[in-house]
Amino acid sequence: MTAPLGLAGRHIVLGLSGGVACYKAAELARELVRAGATVQVVMTEAAGHFITRATMQAVSGRPVFDSQWDSTPPAGMAHIDLSREADAILVAPASADFIAQLAQGRAAELLALLCLARPVDRCPLLLAPAMNREMWAHPATQRNVAQVQADGATVLGPGVGSQACGETGDGRMLEATELRDALAAFFQPKCLAGRTVLVTAGPTFEAIDPVRGITNHSSGKMGFALARAAAEAGARVTLVAGPVHLPTPAGVQRIDVQSGQQMFDAVLPLAPAHDIFVATAAVADWRPAHTQVQKIKKQGGTGDSVPPPLMLVENPDILAAVAALPPAQRPWCVGFAAESENLAAHARAKLVRKGVPLVVGNLGPATFGRDDNSLLLVDAAGDHPLPPADKLTLARQLVQEIATRMAAREFA
Ligand code: C5P
Repeated sequence: MTAPLGLAGRHIVLGLSGGVACYKAAELARELVRAGATVQVVMTEAAGHFITRATMQAVSGRPVFDSQWDSTPPAGMAHIDLSREADAILVAPASADFIAQLAQGRAAELLALLCLARPVDRCPLLLAPAMNREMWAHPATQRNVAQVQADGATVLGPGVGSQACGETGDGRMLEATELRDALAAFFQPKCLAGRTVLVTAGPTFEAIDPVRGITNHSSGKMGFALARAAAEAGARVTLVAGPVHLPTPAGVQRIDVQSGQQMFDAVLPLAPAHDIFVATAAVADWRPAHTQVQKIKKQGGTGDSVPPPLMLVENPDILAAVAALPPAQRPWCVGFAAESENLAAHARAKLVRKGVPLVVGNLGPATFGRDDNSLLLVDAAGDHPLPPADKLTLARQLVQEIATRMAAREFA
């Protein structure tokens, strides 16, 4: 199955300039193909010293171009044909020398030539720099990077870490999956540009003693997908996450908490600084009235021990508290409702009870931990179903729905 990333049907020219990071380009080509894109590889002569055409042809499934004198294209003009067909050109690795060539508008080799000849309004150029940290930090490189950005190129990374040369610092090419996700994000509509979004996600863990607690099966996947989709849509995103083992989506600021009270304490001061609040977290309704400092030991012998009494108190309702902030401090609030039946009726009741403009219903606990779901959007205008899909696709649709409602509200 094609991974649900939003790259299906995209045609990408993957350019390789010379650098050790060429070894990652083979993996990148595979990731792009796996995500449903078609990949046309173009290599510079220097790239050919690091990885072979045969490897790149095998992983992309297409012959590789490396010369402007190649007579294979019908009119013999690879630089024109390749860029006209492409949805984007991604140069990974982009060496210091290649970026310098772009900054000057030079076109001595096919890859630089086709970047220069591309229709800038239809064929975006993305660069994944890869070089030694001193080369990256050099004023000439920084000047060239600023110039190519001013000319419309998007720079992905570079990352920080250990380098092939043995040094550590800025200049590592992003990993193949990071570049794949960054490219998918690039293609998403920027419907939340300039907005700030606060998301809660995952379960909470309410400690009984140092080794035990009350929690639930929420995986956090929907909330993390939402944080990712909002960031892809151009928002600045803060994600307050309960205990889950999910990677932080690119560009998202993450705050980890354990209990519902900690989530409340993290969210309430942040809420007034955000335009939108989406509460996807499955916050435990109750917590133990007292957390024991030491592990509770079994009293009595095997089979006849007396269970300790467990007094519970209610957790604060984070969503309701944010929705009750004074209008000037209140973000636009979205609640989630996981129900086992009567989804529309329960979700509508929650809309009123929590005092929020939008509630997103889903049939739990079937959704817990799964990669796909279906949603029912309930607001003053009525009920709007989002049919079954993977959680990232649903999150992107929900982000669009939120953006539309925000825009309509401001227009009204
Ligand atoms: O009241 P109920 O738990 O059914 O409501 C679910 C919605 O309220 C979700 O959006 C959830 O994140 C939010 N919630 C909350 N704080 C709580 C309980 C629920 O923010 N203590």
